[in-house]
Amino acid sequence: MFKALFRRKTDFPTASESQMSRVLGLRDLTFFGIAAIIGGGIFSSVGRACSEGGPGVIWLFLICAIACGFAALCYAEFAARIPVSGSAYTYAYASFGELFAWIIGWALIMEYSIGNIYIAFSWSGYVTHMLDAFHIHLPRWLTVDYRTASRLFSEFSQISILNPDQRDALEAWNTAPKIGDLRLIFDAPAVLINILITILVYRGIKESKQVSNVMVLLKLIIIIAVILVGTFYIDIENYTPFNPSGMKGIMAGVSAVFFTYIGFDAVSTLAEESKNPERDLPKGMFYSLLICTVLYILISLVLTGMVPFGLLNVDDPLAFALQYKGVHWLEYIVGASAIIAMTGVLLVFQMGQPRIWMSMSRDGLLPQKFASIHPRFKTPGFSTIMTGFVVGLPIFFTDEAFVLDFTSIGTIFAFVLVCGGVLLLPQRKIGEGKGFRLWYINGKWLFLLICILAVLLCVYFIPEYFKEILNGGEDVMYVISHRILWICLITLSAFTFKNNWNLIPLLGVAICLYLLTGMTLDNWKWFGIWFLIGFLIYMFYGRRKSKLNEAKG
Ligand code: ALA
Repeated sequence: MFKALFRRKTDFPTASESQMSRVLGLRDLTFFGIAAIIGGGIFSSVGRACSEGGPGVIWLFLICAIACGFAALCYAEFAARIPVSGSAYTYAYASFGELFAWIIGWALIMEYSIGNIYIAFSWSGYVTHMLDAFHIHLPRWLTVDYRTASRLFSEFSQISILNPDQRDALEAWNTAPKIGDLRLIFDAPAVLINILITILVYRGIKESKQVSNVMVLLKLIIIIAVILVGTFYIDIENYTPFNPSGMKGIMAGVSAVFFTYIGFDAVSTLAEESKNPERDLPKGMFYSLLICTVLYILISLVLTGMVPFGLLNVDDPLAFALQYKGVHWLEYIVGASAIIAMTGVLLVFQMGQPRIWMSMSRDGLLPQKFASIHPRFKTPGFSTIMTGFVVGLPIFFTDEAFVLDFTSIGTIFAFVLVCGGVLLLPQRKIGEGKGFRLWYINGKWLFLLICILAVLLCVYFIPEYFKEILNGGEDVMYVISHRILWICLITLSAFTFKNNWNLIPLLGVAICLYLLTGMTLDNWKWFGIWFLIGFLIYMFYGRRKSKLNEAKG
């Protein structure tokens, strides 16, 4: 039985067998990457990160970009070896076996579907504020989620100044109609956009792609405009202090910042539709990451320069900063384009999820229905509708903060698996395979040296760090997660020393592990529950129904 968990898939369609038309070039792939990356994160969650870390949040943007860069290299290595759709799920199936593939497929649900819940909430935030600007005031109990309203009501007495979003949540609680003791509070625009996107994706992918390309150009123009105009309104005093709550405050924004980068990996799902996947997929991922990193760092500098960082914990920080400085003409344009940008990301993710389920179903790991194609629209109809439910139902009982953390922890975990996976692959020889080939840098001594350097830097710049980690401190979760991090790093150093592992995927694993130290106990608890459910489904369904099982039988 144990062996069955690690059985590998070997028969993939070759380039010539693939049914899809190869029409996408490097520019299309880069555009697609940007379409998936820029969305709810920069228009919404970044406010939370800035309000916790201050202007120093740019360091976190850099760290996350480096982590994603290493993960992108590993995705590219996989994509060059196995240029078929299915992304990390397929790579894992070919390299490490079924259980590993299932775990990645399960983690990708956190990235795509749960991520879309967050974006739907953010979309709703911008739409509500736009409507308000045009004097159309939706009742607040139809624009706020239940958990946020109820939490705010219970914490109300401890908050000295309410920001506009908190005022709305309180109003929702106080004015909501009641059914017995239950208040009727839910985010109606978030529900509505999910229904509309599901219908669009259900009806056809061609239209969806055309819409997405126009959106990319528009959001790039708007973000550059905010950077250029915002620069004139920067108040230098807002940059002092630059790191108001130190590295702990900066790391508190890790989910929010990491979320802004999620999506570049969606490029790898287009392997069968690109003209030269081995060359263009890695480049497409890199160019899109690079462009977004530069824009993100600039925009966070502009935001924290325009507004005292403590005020930025709002749903629509870009529009808020412009409103704060009285730049109303641009505020409305930003609001409108944020809505369009987020619609684009919703589309990409809502298209990606059913296709991953389709691959899993074709392999027998999910019921056959998930692979069924709609006879007229030629889309994976059932999977698309299921995605609609998986995104839509939680809107009624979760909140933004929860889904943001959940998405980020799941995606970072998937990246650890992808980088770790490449680490264990045998090195390709020069000339073996086409296109991109991950460089080999022997990590034997280098990784050890980098770890020692990290220790020295910590001792020099944060003298109390090791005291806290070794002796314990008030923040128990911080202490535990950093102890685990160092244990992992020491273990990795030892294995690398013995096996001469490649430094590149190794650094990807190490940086992603560092990002995971920013997660709270609650995040880990839900993450554990999620994987336990996934594991049980695999053991009782996937393992038995797997096509590899039938092949053997
Ligand atoms: N990076 C994507 C966004 O920010 C998920 O919306």
